[in-house]
Amino acid sequence: MRVMRDAAAPSDREQSTEVEGRASSPSCVRGAHTPGPSVTCLLRWEKRAFMRVRRLDDAVRHGSQRGSLMSTATHPHTSSGIKVLLLENIHTSAHALFKEHGCEVEALTGALSEDALCEKLRGVHVLGIRSKTQVTAKVLDAAKDLLTLGCFCIGTNQVDLRAAKLTGTSVFNAPFSNTRSVAEMILAEVVMLARQLGDRVREVHAGQWRKVSAGCFEVRGKTLGIVGYGHIGSQVGVLAEAFGMRVVFYDIATKLPMGNNRPCDSLAELLAESDFVTLHVPATTQTHRMVGPAEIAAMKPGAYLLNASRGTVVQIPALADALRGGHLAGAAIDVYPEEPETNSDGFATELRGLSNVILTPHIGGSTMEAQAAIGREVATSLLKYINAGSTAGSVNFPEVEPALIPGTHRVLNAHRNVPGVLRDINRIVSDVGANILGQVLATDADIGYLVMDIEREVSDAVSTAMAALPTNLRTRVLY
Ligand SMILES: NC(=O)c1ccc[n+]([C@@H]2O[C@H](COP(=O)([O-])OP(=O)(O)OC[C@H]3O[C@@H](n4cnc5c(N)ncnc54)[C@H](O)[C@@H]3O)[C@@H](O)[C@H]2O)c1
Repeated sequence: MRVMRDAAAPSDREQSTEVEGRASSPSCVRGAHTPGPSVTCLLRWEKRAFMRVRRLDDAVRHGSQRGSLMSTATHPHTSSGIKVLLLENIHTSAHALFKEHGCEVEALTGALSEDALCEKLRGVHVLGIRSKTQVTAKVLDAAKDLLTLGCFCIGTNQVDLRAAKLTGTSVFNAPFSNTRSVAEMILAEVVMLARQLGDRVREVHAGQWRKVSAGCFEVRGKTLGIVGYGHIGSQVGVLAEAFGMRVVFYDIATKLPMGNNRPCDSLAELLAESDFVTLHVPATTQTHRMVGPAEIAAMKPGAYLLNASRGTVVQIPALADALRGGHLAGAAIDVYPEEPETNSDGFATELRGLSNVILTPHIGGSTMEAQAAIGREVATSLLKYINAGSTAGSVNFPEVEPALIPGTHRVLNAHRNVPGVLRDINRIVSDVGANILGQVLATDADIGYLVMDIEREVSDAVSTAMAALPTNLRTRVLY
C-alpha cells in the first residue's frame, strides 16, 4: 500500500518522509525537505524539478484499506497540508472539503490584481477563483509552487489555459453543477410563457388590472421540443413529463431517451411539431446562429422559443421580427450574443419591451444549491489531482483517471509533446531496471501527461531523471 506499514522496512528516504494522518482529518500531503514554514507539507518542490507527495487521504473517506493503515505511521502528524488559496467568496462547501483533507485554507472575499496575485501565490499549491480573477501568463510564471487551479464557475476564459498547460498547471471547472437549476428555470418559463405571466406581473406592478384568458394555455398535453439533449436538456425532458407535456428532442449524438421522451431525426422535424422549443446546445461552429429566420419560420405559428444555452445560438433580430409579426407567441431569453461584464454595466437588446418576452440576465444556473455543488465539484477535482494525479474533467490537460495500484509509487510527469520524449522516458525506466505496474499516457498537441505506477524502490531515481529532461514541465511522486 502507499502508506507504509510498521511491518514493512522503509527505506531511509521513506523514514524521513513518514507522516501520520489524523483519524478525524484523513488528508495530509507531504514531501521530503521542508523549505520553510509557509510550505509545511511540501518538502521539496521546484517547477522544473520534482516533488514527492505523501497521500494519506481519500482512502479513509472512501473506506479503503489504505486509510486503515494510517494509524501505523510512526512520526507525528501535522494538521497542515497543501496550501489552498480561495478567492472571490468561494462557497464554504469547498473550504470544508479541503480542510477535511488536511489542507491549509486561506479564503479571501475579493479578486486580486495581477501583481497582488503574483505576490500572494508564493507557497500556494492550489488556487481557487471565480470569474473576476485574471490568471495571466505572468501570474502563472510567478506561481512557482502552484500545482493546480480551480475555476469555481462554468467559464474559464479568465485563465490563460495554454500558459497554464505549459507551466504544468492543470485547470478544472464545474460544468455540470447547475444543471438542475437551469432545467427548473426552463420549466418555470414554459408555464410563464403559456400564461403570459411576465406581462401580467409587469402590469399589476404598474397599477393596471388586466384579467385576460385569451392566448393563455395550460402546458399539459403540449409538445416541448428540446434541442441538445445533454445534461440540461435531458433534465428538462424529465421535468416536462411531470407537467403532462409530450417531449421530443433532437441531438447530433445518439441519446438514450428519458421516460417517454422521443428523439426526432432532424431539427426540422422537431421545429414542425413543437409548441415550445428550448435550446440546450453548446457554443460550437455548428450551433453558431443555428436558429435564424428559416428555423423560426419553420416553427408552428403561435409557438414559443426559449434559449438558456449560449447567446450566439439565436439570431436576435430574426426572433424580434417573429415576435413583432406575431408568428411566435413569446420567448424566454437568458443568454445574449454580447453580455455586460459586470452588474453595473448597462444592457440593451432589441427584445426589450416586446410582449410576452421574458428577459433574464444569464441566471439560469444561479442558485444557492448550484454554488454549493460547484464548491464540492471543483474541490473534489482538485483533490483528486493532488492526491492521485487524476485529470478527469480538466479543461487544459489530457484526461486520465487510472485506478490506484496498491504497493506502488505513482510518478506523474507532464512534458512537452515533442519527438523523442517517450524514447527518453523509456530509457530512464530501463536504465534503473524499473518494473512498470501500471501506466497511462494521454497527449494533446502541446503536452503529454504520464501516470506511471512503479515499484517504490525506484520511484526517486525515475522521477529525478524525468524531471531533469529538457522536455519536463512538471514531475511529482505520490507515495
Ligand atoms: N443559462 C445558464 O446560466 C447556463 C448554465 C449552465 C449551462 N448553460 C449552457 O447550456 C448549454 C447546455 O449545457 P449542458 O450542460 O446540457 O451541455 P451538454 O454538453 O451536457 O449537452 C449539450 C448537448 O448538445 C448536443 N449538441 C451539440 N451540438 C448540437 C447540435 N448542433 N444540434 C443538436 N444537438 C447538439 C450535444 O450532443 C449534447 O448532447 C451549454 O451551452 C451551456 O453553456 C447555460
